[in-house]
Amino acid sequence: MNVLHVIANPRPAETSVSKKLAFEFFAALMEKNPDVVVNNVDLYQNKPPYVSSEALNYFWGPVVNPAYIPSKAEETAANFSNNNAQALVDADVLVLTMPVWLNSFPAILKAWLDQVLVPGKLFTFGPDGVIPIHHLRTVVLLVSSDSVYKEDDATDGLTPAIRAIFSYIGVDDIQIAWADGQDASRHFDSEQRREMALEAAREIAEDLAEQV
Ligand SMILES: Cc1cc2nc3c(=O)[nH]c(=O)nc-3n(C[C@H](O)[C@H](O)[C@H](O)COP(=O)(O)O)c2cc1C
Repeated sequence: MNVLHVIANPRPAETSVSKKLAFEFFAALMEKNPDVVVNNVDLYQNKPPYVSSEALNYFWGPVVNPAYIPSKAEETAANFSNNNAQALVDADVLVLTMPVWLNSFPAILKAWLDQVLVPGKLFTFGPDGVIPIHHLRTVVLLVSSDSVYKEDDATDGLTPAIRAIFSYIGVDDIQIAWADGQDASRHFDSEQRREMALEAAREIAEDLAEQV
């Protein structure tokens, strides 16, 4: 099993709750299944650029016109995508480690998704719409937030967006370990919430490890 781990958090591991979830997740996964191959991608070490007009032409030109030939400038503008999308194509499982920022995921993750989730790489189009060209089965979200978010919370701009983005390419299995209520000054049970999320991360990893 190939696991792509994308880290969208600039904070060091010692102070980051979401990175603690990731540590727990991968420890459990590797313990249960040492054959798992993990590819770690820290977006703050390899920052995706915003998609430019030239990159858009490169991604979507062939969809509009199959005979389209990109210019050198358009090809250069798609460098990040060309160098990084394959890692997602090769993955069986995608793990996203991140904090909640402004009720959503950090912009750097959106920038990465805009670069890699593009036609010709992750999906193509047939008469009935989108055809996936990947074998991704599951997306795991390892998330931390100061506030408490209830199930289907109207202020949660993270999980509905991730679900919609991956559903578009045929992936509906989204597993979540979310340490919410991490602001101890507002939430007396922040530690228990963190423990519950760590336990959830372990359980998700153990289930996945058995799937091979
Ligand atoms: C720029 C910024 C925006 C934030 N916005 C939210 C928010 O909308 N909701 C929330 O619950 N916490 C918010 N937080 C708090 C973080 O989500 C919280 O501290 C989380 O535990 C950080 O994860 P980490 O420990 O893995 O870095 C924000 C923090 C920062 C720095």
